[in-house]
Amino acid sequence: MTLTRSLIVRGGRVIDPASGVDAVLDVRVVDGRIAELGAELSSGTAEIVDAAGLVVSPGFIDLHVHLREPGQEHKETIASGARAAARGGFTTICAMPNTEPAMDTAATIDAVVLRARDVDCRVLPIGAVTMGRKGHEMTELAALRDAGAVAVSDDGDAVSDNAIARRAFEYLADLDLPLAEHCEDPAISQGGVMHDGAVSARLGLRGQPAAAELSIVQRDIALAEASGAQFHGCHISTEAALEAIADARARGLQVTAEVTPHHLFLSHDIVAGDGEELLYDTNAKVNPPLRTDADIEACVEALAAGVVEAVATDHAPHAAVDKCCEFDRAAFGISGLESAWPVVNTLVSQGRLRLAEAIARLTVGPARTWNLDTGDRLGLGTLAVGAPADIALLATDAPVKIDPELWESKGKNTPLAGRELVGAVAATISQGRIVWDGREPA
Ligand code: DOR
Ligand code: ZN
Repeated sequence: MTLTRSLIVRGGRVIDPASGVDAVLDVRVVDGRIAELGAELSSGTAEIVDAAGLVVSPGFIDLHVHLREPGQEHKETIASGARAAARGGFTTICAMPNTEPAMDTAATIDAVVLRARDVDCRVLPIGAVTMGRKGHEMTELAALRDAGAVAVSDDGDAVSDNAIARRAFEYLADLDLPLAEHCEDPAISQGGVMHDGAVSARLGLRGQPAAAELSIVQRDIALAEASGAQFHGCHISTEAALEAIADARARGLQVTAEVTPHHLFLSHDIVAGDGEELLYDTNAKVNPPLRTDADIEACVEALAAGVVEAVATDHAPHAAVDKCCEFDRAAFGISGLESAWPVVNTLVSQGRLRLAEAIARLTVGPARTWNLDTGDRLGLGTLAVGAPADIALLATDAPVKIDPELWESKGKNTPLAGRELVGAVAATISQGRIVWDGREPA
């Protein structure tokens, strides 16, 4: 890590979707903020970061990350998660509250904010909706917001009690905070461990039907409409739920959503593997589960059309022992921060997303989805003069083979290990500091 007061990112292709800029330019950074964009800026004493041949993007923003601290530091810590973020091009990550204890009081939020002060990216906390995420007693939502929570969520579980969900939406309307919902109706999913379909039938595994997602999405759209609060659908994975969200947005409701790289790229087929023998790949066990090809297509289309404005990783690091067991008993989750750009950029290389769209959904899209670009974060997700100097340098043509053993994250759990994709994060600058540099030496 180098502490730099002034640097110039030289000669890259600057893509800033918020302003429509797509040109070879230099970017001057002074005291942690973007100071100037222009051709061939004079350098003086500034450190030069050579970006020739690279795309210069705003740093990525992830609305959905599990950092496991406090309570499960063997899986990830705030510091290790932030290093993984930096390596993945992320400069802002939002930390889900399903820690131990859960982030359900101002004090637990304070503790996370304190621990996150000197790590390699900005960490914004998400508070729990109910005490201990147990679904019975609402948290003090205003106190969580005052402590810095940028959203509330019981992620891992839905707020399944309708009465509590209704009350939470009513309070959140006044507080101007989104409810980030894990959309799974437990009465419908019934403990299913993968998508309910042809593959679960073949493997003899309990399935979780698409209707479990749609049920909560429809309820929350109704509650958002009734209360005027914002419903944010976490990791939306099915065509039917995306249709409901598109319809609600077309009606002008405060409804937003995110999709994950894995739901944009992988289907339930990979749980069974691609050989003769059935694999039962626990690294492909995730909640919501990997779905069908039609669902994948719907996720990509919703992202391209802007129905979904944010890609979020749902980075869910687990220890080897949590995955090295029977499928039924394995933990849900995929470690995602360090493969997000290769996956999304591979979709670009396949012509399924445009490059500027892909970058928008990782930067200004999430910033605006949760109004993160206010106060001293004004301009977050953009390269506007005065914005925080959060910058990712991206290689868009580089072939990469995914190898989690090289990752900073403690979570090596990914079904993408060994896959050949296209795209790498060459360097990351967080608030003016170079926090990751993987560029070839000159
Ligand atoms: O796959 C998942 N993992 N889905 C969740 O909702 C929770 C997460 C976790 O915390 O591991
Ligand atoms: Zn999650």
